[in-house]
Amino acid sequence: MQQGLSRSCDAQCCCVTAPRALHTALRPAGPGARWSAARQHQMPAWTRGRSPQQSLDPCCISVGQEYDAWTEEGVLEYYWGEHIHLGTYSEAERAAGYTKKDFKQAKYDFIDEMLAFSGASAPTSILDVGCGFGGTSRHLAKKFRNASVRGITLSPKQVQRGGELAKEQGVTNVTFEVMDALAMQIPDNTYDLVWACESGEHMPDKKKYVEEMVRVLKPGGTLVIACWCQREETPDRPFSSTERKELQFLYDEWAHPYFISYQEFERLMKGTGLMEGVVGEDWTPQTLPSWLHSIWVGVVDPWIVIFKGPAIWYKTVREIVTIVRMHNAFASGLMQYGLIRGQKRADGKLA
Ligand SMILES: C[S@@+](CC[C@H](N)C(=O)[O-])C[C@H]1O[C@@H](n2cnc3c(N)ncnc32)[C@H](O)[C@@H]1O
Repeated sequence: MQQGLSRSCDAQCCCVTAPRALHTALRPAGPGARWSAARQHQMPAWTRGRSPQQSLDPCCISVGQEYDAWTEEGVLEYYWGEHIHLGTYSEAERAAGYTKKDFKQAKYDFIDEMLAFSGASAPTSILDVGCGFGGTSRHLAKKFRNASVRGITLSPKQVQRGGELAKEQGVTNVTFEVMDALAMQIPDNTYDLVWACESGEHMPDKKKYVEEMVRVLKPGGTLVIACWCQREETPDRPFSSTERKELQFLYDEWAHPYFISYQEFERLMKGTGLMEGVVGEDWTPQTLPSWLHSIWVGVVDPWIVIFKGPAIWYKTVREIVTIVRMHNAFASGLMQYGLIRGQKRADGKLA
């Protein structure tokens, strides 16, 4: 069992996972630790001590509310553009120095590389699970004009912003709605591409997350996941106490419930008995520059943060510390950036 899987909401609310500070590159929202403590009091008493799945609803509301707040502030979109995920940097770009690459372009490159990794060539129905402002949904909708693309998120403000941007860009084959990925109101066997980019970190129940996505996937369809992962813990290589402390910091500071390894995602996909061709890869080298680059874009253009005042400056410094520690965890191998893909068996039957 991966570290954290057995934790209850009592120890740390497993289901409230604030969107990472990284995502906002100097965002004005508070650090997860502050929120982590506060949310314990905000949560109804009946949720305490229950399993993550049992206490999902109030926590999901909190995740949605946090994303709502950040969408309204506009700082996240200012720095990160339409995409709330890491970017990719080729070997040549890394050798030249990440600051030479456009921060937002790195995210578009990531999407194109994730699509290539998925192996999906001409999907006609796409589900973007945890779609953010819908940057990826729109990108895929433009690429596959005959496809209908549906993005789901917990944040009503993201739904609204996603729709506005689609309208501005003349993208008519995409829709957005509020829906919980762990209880999707979608019939079985609906989509031929299910896409999940950096939403898994938020899920209090990774098994259910994978099972739901497989359920709505058409036979022969493709599921592709990108997720921050912790390295595999094995009997030969258990986490040291230093590593455990560092992981705990990474969970707490940005209020993630827990991470799993990308190999565990592979096992979860295979464990459904419905998936074949399951492959996981570590994309840490090509995504690693995103961390420090997210600080850099704020350093060269700090005005939006500066005008927000001292409280935000304090929080920003704290966020930078966390970003650096996250960078270090990925650089040291404690964390890994996982990409996982698989196809649903063509007959749709259990293996
Ligand atoms: C880090 S953002 C990633 C956004 C988008 N995939 C992108 O790459 O730009 C995480 C997204 O996951 C969504 N999310 C988190 N938990 C969710 C859940 N249980 N159901 C649906 N969406 C969820 C959040 O609302 C947010 O839109």
